[in-house]
Order: sequence, then C-alpha cells, then structure tokens
Amino acid sequence: MRKIGVVLTEADDWTATAILKNIRDKGAEAVALNLAQIGVSITNAGLYWLNETEDINGMDGVIVRDVGISNLLDLISVKFDLIRIFEIERHTTVMNSSVAIQNAANKFLSFVLFQRAHLPLPPTVVTADLEVAKRAIEDFGSVLVKPIFGSQGKGIIKLEGYEYAPKVAALLKDRGVLYLQQFVHNPGRDIRVFVVGETALGAIYRVTPPGSFRSNLSQGGSPRKCKLTEELCELAIRATKAVGADFAGVDLIESADGLYLLEINATPSARGIKLACGIDVTEKIVDLLFTRLKR
Ligand SMILES: Nc1ncnc2c1ncn2[C@@H]1O[C@H](COP(=O)(O)OP(=O)(O)O)[C@@H](O)[C@H]1O
Ligand SMILES: [Mg+2]
Repeated sequence: MRKIGVVLTEADDWTATAILKNIRDKGAEAVALNLAQIGVSITNAGLYWLNETEDINGMDGVIVRDVGISNLLDLISVKFDLIRIFEIERHTTVMNSSVAIQNAANKFLSFVLFQRAHLPLPPTVVTADLEVAKRAIEDFGSVLVKPIFGSQGKGIIKLEGYEYAPKVAALLKDRGVLYLQQFVHNPGRDIRVFVVGETALGAIYRVTPPGSFRSNLSQGGSPRKCKLTEELCELAIRATKAVGADFAGVDLIESADGLYLLEINATPSARGIKLACGIDVTEKIVDLLFTRLKR
C-alpha cells in the first residue's frame, strides 16, 4: 500500500482534511505530518525520525498543505528542513517542493522570477534606504507596504503620499527593509486562480469587505465564482511555472490597464473555490502526486 504524508500545522483545517480523505479514497495510507509534533535525532549512527503518534518512515510521497507562519528564524528554518529531509534523504516525491514554497512565500524573490517570466507586475521597490523609499512613495502616490514573508493580508499597510513622511522612517526601522508597491485601483476585488500541474482548474473573485483594501478571505473577503478566461489561465500557469510549483493559488488584480499579478501562494487553501464553484482542487493535487509516483 502506498503511504502518503500530508504536512500540516492545523489538524482540523478544511484543506488538509480534504487532501487526507482523497488519498484514502485512492486506497493509500494517509499520514498527517503535523510539523509541531515531529523532529529528528541525529547521531553518528544515523538520523531517526521522532514522532509520538505516527510512523513516518517509508513515505512514498508527501503533500505540503501548510508550513505555518512564524517570524522565528530557527522555527521556520527547521520546518523547511524537515520537508527537505524527505526530499534529500528519502528521495520522496514532495509537492510542492520546499524550493517552490520558499520561492512563492518570498514576495521579493517571486517578483524577480515573475519579472524574468515577463509577467505584468505593479511597480514595486524593495529597499533598505530611507531616501529610496521616500522617492518610491512619491512616485507611486498610493502605496502598499508589504511584509516580504507575509500572508492572509497581515502586516500590509496602505500609505497615501501625503501621510507617508513620519510613518516610513518608523516602518523601515521596524522592518529593516521595505517592500513598497503601487496601489492598483481596482473594482473592489481580486482574482485567485487555482492551478494544478499544467492546468488552471477554476477561479474565484475575492470581494473586498467595506472599509478595507484587502480581499483575503481571512480578512473578511467573500469568494464568488469567476469565469476562467484564456488570459487568466495563461498568466496563472506561467506564474506557477516561474516559481517551480506543482500547484498554486495565483492572485491577480484588475486595473484600468489590464490584469496585474499580485502574488502566488504555493500552500493555498482549497476551501474558497469549493464554496464558490464546487471545485475540489485537492482531488486534482492528489491525482497529480499519484501520476508522479508511478514513474
Ligand atoms: N498592489 C496592490 N493594489 C491593490 N490592492 C492590493 C495590491 N496588493 C495587494 N492588494 C490587496 O491586498 C491583498 C493582500 O495582498 P497580497 O500581496 O496578496 O498579500 P498576502 O500574502 O498577505 O495575501 C490582496 O488580496 C489584494 O486584495
Ligand atoms: Mg494574497
């Protein structure tokens, strides 16, 4: 029997539960790998997994649902290394790979990769220099300051040109480096496209709640069905390839000048698209892993 691990940090998460169920429906053993509960012991005699609840040896494949957010360097590094041990030491098929997840989670590096892939991006400046930051804010007018490793809309601050001066110095001191992006005037929503393998499966609008500029579902945004156009498919698939992901949620925003790519998430929640469109992307993710295993 195939044995597939699912890396997660919240045992009752909808997406993790759906992935585990789809693995079991294929007649394979599904093992929840809660990153808070596993570790390794390293001795001269070898490396041993430490896990109270499950036997995590002999894994054929691993799907990473979620690595968990942390600003503790040791913790986030160990979590990624635990995934890398499967890749390096066990030659296990891991989806998404640790490299793809890191490329996607890093808003600076992912934008460099997107730029090289000629994807349409809002003007963005990353700098540790206060003067450069001030100039960018003046040029952009309305600006979002985003954490480089951020998600769920957390830590994003909107600065209007006129109010930036006192705030930007304090922000730079606090963050060490600033990611500044021109605010794209939009119809009060963004678009998330779900890609698995070489296929875009569906898309949702995420409607921004009143009084906010963030449309993340975790910030009160609401999912609505969005028609998947050829342009959306093409942009989302190119973005997914640019970071080397096998599956992703790709965020785009509509402007008067057309679509812009905002970011990519290589550990996306599958709940919104299930609610809005009835599409279970976790089934396709599990299918893709199984086709990889047969090779
Ligand atoms: N440049 C932008 N212009 C307008 N709205 C934006 C822009 N960037 C982000 N947003 C809004 O903020 C939300 C969160 O931004 P995003 O870059 O996706 O960060 P996170 O990783 O926290 O989700 C987006 O879903 C969108 O609603
Ligand atoms: Mg986002």
